[in-house]
Amino acid sequence: MCGIVGYIGMRQAGDILLDGLEKLEYRGYDSSGIAVMEGGAICLVKAVGRLSELKSRLNGNGPAGTLGIGHTRWATHGKPSDENSHPHAGNTDRFAVVHNGIIENYGRLKSRLIEEGHVFRSETDTEVLPHLLEDSYDGDFLQAVRKTVSQLEGSYAFAAISSDNPQEIIAVRKDSPLVAGIGDGEIFLASDIPAVLKYTRSIMIFEDGEMARITPEGVEVYNEDGARMDKDIQQIDWDIEAAEKGGFPHFMIKEIFEQPQAVRKTLAGRISGTRVSLNLDWSTDEARAINKVAVIACGTACYAGMVGRSIFEQLLRIPVSVDVASEFRYMNPIVDEQTLALVISQSGETADTLAGLREAKARGARVVAITNVVGSSIAREADQVLYTQAGPEIAVASTKAYVTQLVGIYLLALYLGVLRGSVTRELEAQILDGLEALPQAIEDVLDRAGEIIEMADRIKDKNNVFFIGRGVDHTASLEGALKLKEISYIHAEAYAAGELKHGTIALIEPGVPVISLATQGHLLDKMVSNIKEVKARGAEIYGFGFNEGREIREESDQFFQLPESLRILAPVVTVIPLQMLAYYVSVARGNDVDKPRNLAKSVTVE
Ligand code: AGP
Repeated sequence: MCGIVGYIGMRQAGDILLDGLEKLEYRGYDSSGIAVMEGGAICLVKAVGRLSELKSRLNGNGPAGTLGIGHTRWATHGKPSDENSHPHAGNTDRFAVVHNGIIENYGRLKSRLIEEGHVFRSETDTEVLPHLLEDSYDGDFLQAVRKTVSQLEGSYAFAAISSDNPQEIIAVRKDSPLVAGIGDGEIFLASDIPAVLKYTRSIMIFEDGEMARITPEGVEVYNEDGARMDKDIQQIDWDIEAAEKGGFPHFMIKEIFEQPQAVRKTLAGRISGTRVSLNLDWSTDEARAINKVAVIACGTACYAGMVGRSIFEQLLRIPVSVDVASEFRYMNPIVDEQTLALVISQSGETADTLAGLREAKARGARVVAITNVVGSSIAREADQVLYTQAGPEIAVASTKAYVTQLVGIYLLALYLGVLRGSVTRELEAQILDGLEALPQAIEDVLDRAGEIIEMADRIKDKNNVFFIGRGVDHTASLEGALKLKEISYIHAEAYAAGELKHGTIALIEPGVPVISLATQGHLLDKMVSNIKEVKARGAEIYGFGFNEGREIREESDQFFQLPESLRILAPVVTVIPLQMLAYYVSVARGNDVDKPRNLAKSVTVE
């Protein structure tokens, strides 16, 4: 979490830093700050709260200078406050540092530095960095950073400036993303590509262990051993518009409406006639040797994995485990050379997921990643990657990434199922047909926003909402509940419909909304019974189902009929109105939809 930026060139750094921070605010937004080299001295300005607070503190009148670094924070060590905001300086104000990640041994380092006479001003782990730089500096800035890094444990990307070296920024990456944008006589530094895209499309993506000395003339990159190395510059071809709101009031609703296109793009080139065609190079023997799929992911990506479990088990007939990555790595997982570890992550940078990937790999598993970000850490470390083509997802609440992850899961399950002989040609063609019809079905749902707004209006003042379903509907309901709670702040719980009566039904009282997903023909009767059980206790029923769900419709206070689609693909279609419901409830409650409280888009700390 946290976003870092830097600039060195001929323009005023302050404006460019603020602009970059605005693009990175999704990474954390409880405080922000900049440090600019003004007349040979480092000038720091910080403010607790959103970036707008920093802007009003600067009031168009920030420090003047053409070199600077900036930061937007998601608090890990110490509450959001001016003191805990980055950049941090040491005792002499000769260094300033912005950092993303966690210095795990900061406690020990801090105690030692205090004994040596250093005075700390914040509660952060980051503040040890400028103090260590002060200790290590003997006239060679790069060397001082190297000595500092040699004492650190943990994950970090940081950028440091020094008033003794007013023409350079030193940047380091270990387990947290960092890129440089290469301009003409100017260099931009950032945690993520969209922050620099307005200025340049020539991007250098740093790898773990690399250190860069950045001057207006260019970027010198050094490896972990301190040796100078050559580094490729990639040309980014995304449309800058893709990272802007494009007329929508929020990124989330824009991204919801982009889903038909995102699905089309994710399918493009992966269906050849009636056959699935993935560039994964598995042999029939390799596919048959797999006896387990272990899904590793967090949050929404993990819920995509839960749907994936049903799909993989149906199509491959092998056991699938799904674990949240933060548990997986510490659970002594049962994973070996015959396991396919399926790692799912929109950002490709989630620290827990990355650690889970490494754990699975260390145990011999073959790792396939489904991710949205080309060149991300997870993409680089996986054995093979299936990229979703969702385009940049900015809203903290994931929507189009989830839907394209599901599409990726169906494609992968078909690909392996065909190789293993558990999926017939006929079934393959039928599911591919269904996948190609999804964009139209999603558009049909999007066209009916009015119905969802009406539902949102009935739900917006409730304190608790339950989501129930059976089979694949239960797994789909998990994501519906997460979406609602993260942006509306209404308590929402997803339950297997048949399990409610074993305890949780005690929470059903008159007026409690129960969102009931019922898309699977063979489970409809059972769902009707479960709906009746909660209705008898006064629940309000919001049903979602296909045409044949007549009885569900009759039991519902409001029913949303899903557009016709293949039943095995129902989770893709069902989640669209649930995303919209969460969005419209959040808007009705006046919440900050794109940046919900306490959250951040990219969780690069464990
Ligand atoms: C989604 O709405 C969430 N904000 C969150 O659960 C997210 O999906 C999770 O943190 C995983 O992120 P990733 O896909 O980038 O790894």
